[in-house]
Amino acid sequence: MAEVVGGLFTSHVPAIGGAIARGAQNDPYWKPFFDGYAPVREWLAEVKPTVAVVFYNDHGLNFFLDCMPTFAIGAAPSYANDDEGWGLQRFPTQAGAPELSWAVIEQLVESGFDPATCQSLKIDHAVTIPLALAWPEGTPAGLRIVPIAINTVQHPLPSAARCLALGRAVGEALASFAGDERIVVMGTGGLSHQLDGERAGFINPDYDRFCLDHLPADPDALTRHSVHEIVELAGTQGVEILNWIAARGALGATAHELSRTYHVPISNTAAAVMLLETEAARAGGKAEARSEAALA
Ligand code: DHB
Ligand code: FE
Repeated sequence: MAEVVGGLFTSHVPAIGGAIARGAQNDPYWKPFFDGYAPVREWLAEVKPTVAVVFYNDHGLNFFLDCMPTFAIGAAPSYANDDEGWGLQRFPTQAGAPELSWAVIEQLVESGFDPATCQSLKIDHAVTIPLALAWPEGTPAGLRIVPIAINTVQHPLPSAARCLALGRAVGEALASFAGDERIVVMGTGGLSHQLDGERAGFINPDYDRFCLDHLPADPDALTRHSVHEIVELAGTQGVEILNWIAARGALGATAHELSRTYHVPISNTAAAVMLLETEAARAGGKAEARSEAALA
């Protein structure tokens, strides 16, 4: 069976792409932020995932205000990047895992979700920046991705509870897939930020801390706020926390925190990265360690 090994939760600010292109990772402004990815990269090098399932929001590259699916799942053989307006260097086209995508879609529809299914989909900075942060030398050969877009842009948005339920259903579908995939789940965006309007520049460390503190062991706590309350607490774009909530759902009941970084500001955003390991991966790792010890 396929195995979900863990979750990477990260900001996806486009300016990160500019910093990478300039090689500015060690500049005083950027260093505290990029340093947060060292444990992530170590862990990825160890667990060697073969699939990344990325919960994100499309920023007008595929879907605009005239046509906005609440949930959209990529089922394409490959995903090309394009410039949705930030002028970033193009990110290499990423391979898809259409048979896994369709297995997820079928199980979701069976369990009462009605996602849009995208056999053609472009990926924007909300997918490419997290991949670039996770694998600065380029995504490993053989890595395949399943993008899952959540509408965090045009109201009405799905509730936090609905996003958590979606993630849980995706996690169950992934874990019941007959294959040997090692799957890392990603949730991208956030944390608190607001890019426009009267509250432009709004950041709320108290709410961000609440999210980071509860996400690993008690993600249901994040569903106590309505979408409008989340907008008030996190900012109009901080509501991207919905992507994190969905991704957390896909990790199962128990997840273990391996690392966390919170840094304000990166661009207009309270930036954060969190790495969680699933119970299954931890138990497997311990079993491996035990058998190694028995052999020694
Ligand atoms: C910024 C943050 C985002 O989430 C985004 O999609 C675009 C810009 C920012 O802080 O600049
Ligand atoms: Fe965003």
